[in-house]
Amino acid sequence: MKGIILAGGTGTRLYPITEGISKQLMPIYDKPMIFYPLSTLMNAGIRDILIITTEVDQENFKRLLKDGKHLGINISYAVQESPRGLADAFIVGEEFIGDDSCCMILGDNIFYGDKFSKKLLRARENADNGYATIFGYKVKDPERFGIMEIDKDKNVLSIEEKPEIPKSKYAVTGLYFYPKGVSLKAKKVRPSKRGEIEITTLNEMYLNDGLLKASMLGEGFTWYDTGTFDSEVDAILMIRSIQNNKDEIICCPEAIAYRNSWISKDELRIRAELLSKNAYGNYLKKLVDEN
Ligand code: G1P
Repeated sequence: MKGIILAGGTGTRLYPITEGISKQLMPIYDKPMIFYPLSTLMNAGIRDILIITTEVDQENFKRLLKDGKHLGINISYAVQESPRGLADAFIVGEEFIGDDSCCMILGDNIFYGDKFSKKLLRARENADNGYATIFGYKVKDPERFGIMEIDKDKNVLSIEEKPEIPKSKYAVTGLYFYPKGVSLKAKKVRPSKRGEIEITTLNEMYLNDGLLKASMLGEGFTWYDTGTFDSEVDAILMIRSIQNNKDEIICCPEAIAYRNSWISKDELRIRAELLSKNAYGNYLKKLVDEN
């Protein structure tokens, strides 16, 4: 399975900050925002990852993540010329995806919670069996999101993009798993009224074909779309609080790579030494010393 992080867009909702820096490189407490979606893909066992950015920002992402070797993964980069919509990622990434299944995550989405890895692996299995999977999370402001209506057995009945009168409070989060052939399907998506190739329309196609599953992220799970100042601050405070309580760094790509045996102890030590001036590096050093 291939993984895509969509980190394009002009970030106008976060101007003036994002006039000078890509949103997905902004800090969420002690690490750049993109580390969080990257961790999610790595937790799903995905090692071939395409990062889609704007042209001007690509250099900065490359400076930060390079080719991914230090994390035991392969990172490649592509440019989205204009923000044509989320489903455009599968057209930009068509060659990269090839004949594989694909998981796409939005570069500003943070997922953290119990048994998440299991849910990710189940979604991978669904993709291998020809099904798409979306993830639902109860929110207080459903007008801001794609919204799914589900029955009591968690079958998806409908999905709507930012509805004025939402049929439920379950947001479709920015994490999507698709079986092979998603690029062909994405090319059939007609632009919406706002001129975008909506991911919601793509998901509706799978729904109409009876090939869409929903995985619900329930109580005790945390999800943030950090696309506003307030949600960003909320996410920062949450990450700080969890890390201080647990005395560990969460959503840490180096730690995941090491746990998955994708990098050796020596490789982890090199990262730990490079970052040795703060708690992040100390945590990596602790991992080196522990095992
Ligand atoms: C996008 C999607 C929306 C989804 C959200 C999750 O909205 O269009 O369906 O619920 O991401 O983060 P955006 O944040 O681009 O407005």
